[in-house]
Amino acid sequence: MKVAVFSAKSYDRTFLERANAAQGHELVFLEPRLTRETCALAAEFPAVCVFVNDPLDAPVLTALARRGTRLIALRCAGFNNVDLAAARDLGMTVVRVPAYSPYAVAEHAVGLILALNRKIHRAYARVREGNFALDGLLGFDLYGQTVGIVGTGKIGVLVARIMKGFGCHLLAYDPFPNAECEALGVDYAALSDLFVRSDIVTLHCPLTPETHHLIDARALDEMKPGVMLINTSRGALVDTRAVIRALKSGKVGYLGLDVYEEEANLFFENLSDRLIQDDVFARLLTFPNVVVTGHQAFFTRNALEHIAETTLANITDFEQGRPCVNQVSVDRLRK
Ligand code: NAI
Repeated sequence: MKVAVFSAKSYDRTFLERANAAQGHELVFLEPRLTRETCALAAEFPAVCVFVNDPLDAPVLTALARRGTRLIALRCAGFNNVDLAAARDLGMTVVRVPAYSPYAVAEHAVGLILALNRKIHRAYARVREGNFALDGLLGFDLYGQTVGIVGTGKIGVLVARIMKGFGCHLLAYDPFPNAECEALGVDYAALSDLFVRSDIVTLHCPLTPETHHLIDARALDEMKPGVMLINTSRGALVDTRAVIRALKSGKVGYLGLDVYEEEANLFFENLSDRLIQDDVFARLLTFPNVVVTGHQAFFTRNALEHIAETTLANITDFEQGRPCVNQVSVDRLRK
């Protein structure tokens, strides 16, 4: 099948081409993101393959459908960037990669916790300058701390497992509690109770209209002074302006982000020769107790192999008219 691969980086090409040896699709790699301005590039392609920051809103989907696209193959798990109702109305199929390596994301979240606590980002810079002073690098034992996990799906449960290994107390909030978490001794609580009791709050739920700005000024007010907040899920779970106010007051003591609500214009590109125009993001970078990574939690060799293999298998299922287990649709979500 002819597939226009948008937002294609060298690593996408490497892993997709390798996996395609077994599938034989005609892949055309396009560097731009798929937007209203670039969707003409997909003319005559029955399938487009996209990533997290390609906005598949109704106008983009309509323009694609008009030019013959019938399949949207997401090479990611989250599908908050797709207007699923519009896709259904246009008769388009949307497939995704529901799990490629939950380990990659869980391990990165824990990496942020460790880096922030022991100030590894600061120590790295200091030692390279010949500064071996320890002032300002004081951390705390993770042992005995209370970690609040919001969302205990594939990633959240792994975070629970790892943090249990450190000897942490585990709290969680999820509308659908996970039996494995319960067996681990995770204590499910109401969201506001989790905010009140946790030393570390880590977000592993999807971005939906209900979870948009789940962490807002009110939620932050409920948290412990000096709380650590980790977000490796989707940027818009957090009201960044409210968090900046909480960092300035000391209410938030540590912030680890792999995602940012306005990341689409920043992440995945080398902008080191340009000036950052996003003042909110620039302010975040001024805090010594903030570590931001550019949506790299998924980025392991293992995950990229799974993403490529599953994406191409999804496309083959569609081409051969087979039901695809990885299809995502509004109707399925409502069930
Ligand atoms: P999953 O679907 O296995 O688990 C999500 C969990 O969140 C489910 O248990 C669900 O019941 C729960 N949930 C739904 N609404 C909730 C709410 N209002 N409050 C609390 N929990 C709620 O998803 P998975 O694989 O664990 O991924 C979680 C998120 O991580 C994805 O939605 C995606 O946004 C993000 N992600 C980030 C990556 C990165 O590179 N930074 C890579 C992959 C995923």
